[in-house]
Amino acid sequence: MSFLIWDQSLDVKVGKMNDEHKILIDYMNRLHDKYESKAPRGDILSALDALYNYTVEHFRDEEKYLSSINYPVFDAHKRTHEDLLSTFQTHKNAFKNGKDLGDQFFTFLRSWLTNHIKVSDVSYGNYAEKSKAKA
Ligand code: FEO
Repeated sequence: MSFLIWDQSLDVKVGKMNDEHKILIDYMNRLHDKYESKAPRGDILSALDALYNYTVEHFRDEEKYLSSINYPVFDAHKRTHEDLLSTFQTHKNAFKNGKDLGDQFFTFLRSWLTNHIKVSDVSYGNYAEKSKAKA
């Protein structure tokens, strides 16, 4: 059973962004599997780096898309991305300094899905759909 699963509640109605969110969830699951199977710290760090790097790529793509549709709350959305990356970086640094990832980190990943993708990302999908209907 995977740690996180993509389902319709995460559908942002933008194909490319849905695809990227699915990849993001894959990276999260790979990291969780390594953590659960007590993989060597170097392997966990590689999985952490891979997730972090893909997140940077996804946020960049998503911001480009939001800018292209003139999303009215672009700045707030971008700030949330910056906050997520900053929290992620804090956990990553703590791990590099010898701490374990622990429940707090995986709760953070879960809340990223439930608070950001399910709410904020879904909102831009609704906005894009309404804008298309008006055009
Ligand atoms: Fe898909 Fe706003 O992150």
